[in-house]
This record gives sequence, C-alpha cells and structure tokens, in this order.
Amino acid sequence: MALATQSAVAELVCFESSCRARYAITDVLYNCPKCGGLMEATYTGDAHDPVKLKRLFRERRMDNSPVNQSGVWRYRELLPFIEDERHIVTLREGNTPLLDAPIAAKYGGLDEVAFKHQGYNPTGSFKDNGMVTGMAQARRLGMKRVACVSTGNTSASMAAYAAAAGMEALVFLPNGKIAFSKLAQALEYGAKTLQVEANFDEILALVRTLADRLGIYLLNSMNPFRVEGQKTIMFEMLDQRDWKVPDWVVLPGGNLGNVSAFGKGLREAKAAGLIDKLPRLAVIQAEHSAPFEAFWKAGATGEFPAVRQPETLATAIRIGDPVSWPKALHEVRTSGGTVEKVTEQEIADAKAQIGLCGIGCEPASAATLAGIRNLVAQGVIDRGADVVAVLTGNVMKDPDYIYKYHTGHLEAPDGAAIVSTFGNQAMVVPNDADKIAALLG
Ligand code: F0G
Repeated sequence: MALATQSAVAELVCFESSCRARYAITDVLYNCPKCGGLMEATYTGDAHDPVKLKRLFRERRMDNSPVNQSGVWRYRELLPFIEDERHIVTLREGNTPLLDAPIAAKYGGLDEVAFKHQGYNPTGSFKDNGMVTGMAQARRLGMKRVACVSTGNTSASMAAYAAAAGMEALVFLPNGKIAFSKLAQALEYGAKTLQVEANFDEILALVRTLADRLGIYLLNSMNPFRVEGQKTIMFEMLDQRDWKVPDWVVLPGGNLGNVSAFGKGLREAKAAGLIDKLPRLAVIQAEHSAPFEAFWKAGATGEFPAVRQPETLATAIRIGDPVSWPKALHEVRTSGGTVEKVTEQEIADAKAQIGLCGIGCEPASAATLAGIRNLVAQGVIDRGADVVAVLTGNVMKDPDYIYKYHTGHLEAPDGAAIVSTFGNQAMVVPNDADKIAALLG
C-alpha cells in the first residue's frame, strides 16, 4: 500500500557543508564515502499547506489504522523516505505525554516546566521513536539481521522492533555497565546478546567493522533513518502545545543523536511553516562523560576532546566519543542554545525531585532538571521562561539506582558517597496494629 506523502523526493546527503555529496535513499551508508562525514536524509518536492497539515495530524489521532496510531508515522509528511506502508511495523510508539511538574519547576528555579516523557514508549525510552523508522528502512532494504551497540535503551528497543518485524537482532553491550532491566529487555525480546569487555565507544568501532564483514544493518543513531523518527518527538511536543514554540528544549546528551534529530526536526518544521521560530536547545551531560560540554565551553574549535574513560552512574549517557557531535554542534549553534554538565549528586537529587511529582525517570533523564537548575542559577535560562525538558527513559529502567539512593548506599564511580538528600526509606515494622498506629501518628 502506498504511503501518501505527496511528491517528495528523498535522498541521502553528506552533512559536511564542504562536501554535501548526494546518494540514493536506498544506499546503505552511515558515513559519506567521499569525506567520511555523517549522512542525513533530505527531501525536495511540493510544499504542504501548514494549516492543512496541522489539521491532518490532529485528525489522524482519531483514526484506528496502525500508521495513524503511531505517534511517529502520524507525522509522515515530514519524514517522507518510505513509500510503501508494508515496510512499517509499529508498536504504537510516540504518543507520549507532556506533563506539568510544579515541584520539579520549583527545584529547578522556574515558575513552570513541562516534561515531554519519552519513557511512556513501548520499550520505555525515546529510542522507539527512531527505531520504528530505522526498522522500516531495514525492511525496505530487505535486511535480515540488524545490530547495535548500546548503553541499554537502543538495544532494548531494537530487540523489540526486530522481534515484531521477524528479523534477527544482534546486540552488543559494554559488559556490566548497563542497567539490569535493559539487559533483561534484550533477552526477553529474543536478541542475540553479546556483552563485550570494552566501553561503548570501543564497541561501536568494533561493530562497524563487523557490520561491513557480515552484511548486518547497523541501527545506531548515526543511522540517518533513526534520526528521522526521533524528529517526531519535537513534532508531537509542538502539536500538543498547539504549535506554540517554547523558549527552551532541554535534553540529556550521550552519543548526541537525539539533539541532532531535534534540531533537524525543528528547522524542518520552521521551513514548512508550522512554526515561526526555533526554541533554544540545551544539552546536558554528566560531569565525567562530558566531551561535548568541554568542546562547547572551549569555543568548539580544534580537535574534539573525546573522553577515553567516561564514567557516570547515568549509564545511558556513559559515552566519551559521541559520533554525532558535528550535527549536534550545528543544531545547538543554530538554535542559540547551550551545553552544560552536572555532577552525579545533582543528577541523583534532581531525579528524586522528579519522582516527587509522581513522574519518575531514569538517571540520564534527570540530568535535564539538574542542568536547568544550574542554567537558571547562572542566569542563562530566565525564571519565567517557557521550558520543555525531555525525559528520555522510564523510571523502571534502573531500580537498583533508586533503591541505593533512597537507602543511602549510592556511590559515584570514583567511590564518593552520594548523599541521599531526598531519601525515602522503607520501614520494617512488627505485625502489631498498636505499634504501627503509634508510628504513623
Ligand atoms: N537518555 C537515555 C535514557 C538514553 O538511553 C540515551 C542514549 C540518552 C539519553 C542520550 O541520547 O545518545 O541521542 O545523545 N542511549 C543510547 C543507547 C546511547 O545505547 O541506548 P543521545
């Protein structure tokens, strides 16, 4: 069945402004064969009427067809690289809420904040938004095996979508350095799971060699079709706000695929006439996994200062050599944004405050609120600013971290104790109504 996305022509184009070499949309490329730059999907064709497009996106929410129930493919006019609906396998990804969080706002120093909570996705993270599009391209190309290296969420997502699509999934993980729930997800969804004695950056290099040798399709975030799906996190957020553009969008940064996707999506939404300005993007990294922050603060010139041994308890963003930094830099600059880093203690306390809103998230996601607090204190974000923070993963992704924090047993990677500032311990009580009543007052 054809997907009606009008007459768009999709191509792969090298992201490097000095190269911009063009390739067919069906070429299997993660980097430009001419210059090694990152690849991106680009589109030419007739412009859509933005008023009609907004109405169409709304109407599709009331439709029961799988593509319209997908919070990604609902926006397909803005990612028109797939022509045949039969390539799409959806788990009804996206459709994530925008939540008010007064307690978190106060903690961050803001009057108000809204969390776009990607943890409500089918596998519990924002990766599903990009995996559904990456998998559609894999099917369109006739791939049988897909692979990724992951700090846990990409692998959980890829395993689920590969299973749903009837494809073999190969997952490469840094041994002992991912949250247990994420490993469990990959196993449950039937992925062949390899735990490698190396860190994320080293395994990514390894897997790229293997992909070429074994003819496996790579679904890491430098796959340009993953980026296309992740753009829709911004489209859905804007749609939920009736296309009112926030002042800031704040998100955690690891391999920097997500900020690249957000920036591209926002620029394209502006070019399509759906919005008239760009929000500023603020990327937050964990203190000892913060090469992009170091690069940014140093003026973003010269060699990228990769961190050889990245460390953080927020294992999702334990990445020292993010592949997508050139795209991320472009997007942060274009949006007038910034990059900030936060400590392990700041992440842990911010996470507990998000929990007190009844929301909860995984550690990497809480870097957003910790970063907001610092940026407001520095006067970079105004107290009255309209801020959307993206929570990237579900609270149940890392229960071990939560339990240790609340019981005062959480230690930073260097062994320093994390203070359980907002700790909440379970109480052991006797089976005695009088004593329990006395205790509870
Ligand atoms: N938050 C969570 C929960 C993540 O899982 C990731 C990345 C990020 C933030 C950072 O996003 O890499 O686009 O800058 N996780 C990847 C993975 C690396 O393998 O699951 P990014």
